[in-house]
Amino acid sequence: MAAIENSKVTIVGAGSVGSSAAYAALIRGSARHVALYDIATAKVEAEVLDLAHGTQFTGSSDIIGGSDLSVVEGSQVVVITAGAKQNPGQTRIELAGVNARIMASMMPDLLSVAPDAVYVLVTNPCDVLTVLAQEQTGLPPERIFASGTVLDTSRLRWKLGKRAGVSTSSVHAYIVGEHGDTEFPLWSKATIGSVPILDWVTPAGDRMTTDELDQIAIDVRDAAYKVILGKGATNYAIGLSSARIIEAILNDEHAVMPVSPVLQDFHGVSGVALSVPSIVSAKGASPIRETPFDARELELFHASADALREVADSLRP
Ligand SMILES: NC(=O)c1ccc[n+]([C@@H]2O[C@H](COP(=O)([O-])OP(=O)(O)OC[C@H]3O[C@@H](n4cnc5c(N)ncnc54)[C@H](O)[C@@H]3O)[C@@H](O)[C@H]2O)c1
Repeated sequence: MAAIENSKVTIVGAGSVGSSAAYAALIRGSARHVALYDIATAKVEAEVLDLAHGTQFTGSSDIIGGSDLSVVEGSQVVVITAGAKQNPGQTRIELAGVNARIMASMMPDLLSVAPDAVYVLVTNPCDVLTVLAQEQTGLPPERIFASGTVLDTSRLRWKLGKRAGVSTSSVHAYIVGEHGDTEFPLWSKATIGSVPILDWVTPAGDRMTTDELDQIAIDVRDAAYKVILGKGATNYAIGLSSARIIEAILNDEHAVMPVSPVLQDFHGVSGVALSVPSIVSAKGASPIRETPFDARELELFHASADALREVADSLRP
């Protein structure tokens, strides 16, 4: 497939996450046309106006939106952020029931106007909602996936980059598994530049220890709780993460990202959506099956799959 010209993305949900994703997509020029759709008419129209008022200072992208489903028509990518969000102290899994119902009622409507789009689910719990939506719609698994741990991986690389004294983009490490409490880093192959992470000498002259890396993994896993406690939502980093995924699809980049499609025999896991390094292109997301996991990582991966399978099972009719 080729890069998509005159490209259009619709972001569904004009709350904190959806409007930040639209803002990031406009500034980064992620798509030629950005649309924002929400059932809350006054809110979505106000967000679209505010975004449109800044387009003198962005590139050639434009923004439309509203509460009429027709705004979604012609989209090559649909990013879904609609639904309930975490209250302070609440886990993502606790949102499952209410957001599964919203997703189930929304998907047929969205598919009726954007039948060929790639669907990216951001609403939490994003992995569980992906597996349910894929089953409901029958879309090929590569065409519907969650943003997953793209955000968590960015959080991890930021923290490691600061400690190692290098730019975030020079850290090569991934968070995989659930976007949530059972996620974990693939430490066995993590490097700073090309140096294995435990061998890297920091600006302070020391090396990171496994205990320190374990604590960093916990801080990354719990990062959202901290942000939500302070400001009620996480929005900027997920907005940027979403924009980056949109670009990888519309530009047919074949970029490697830890997104979460429904897996088919990935290290023995099938029928569950979990983040693993995947190739993201105009076709959607294809997991990289050759990604090496050590024995401990495999154990954690299967535990993450079991936890999410249980939640999905409890939600199936
Ligand atoms: N995957 C991630 O990395 C990640 C990160 C941050 C937040 N999130 C999730 O994103 C979701 C949105 O968070 P938020 O802070 O923007 O919430 P929010 O409450 O600010 O916005 C949600 C919006 O969804 C809209 N909505 C509800 N039902 C709808 C429907 N049927 N059709 C269209 N729009 C509908 C609401 O009107 C509202 O504007 C939450 O589930 C949150 O947990 C995911």
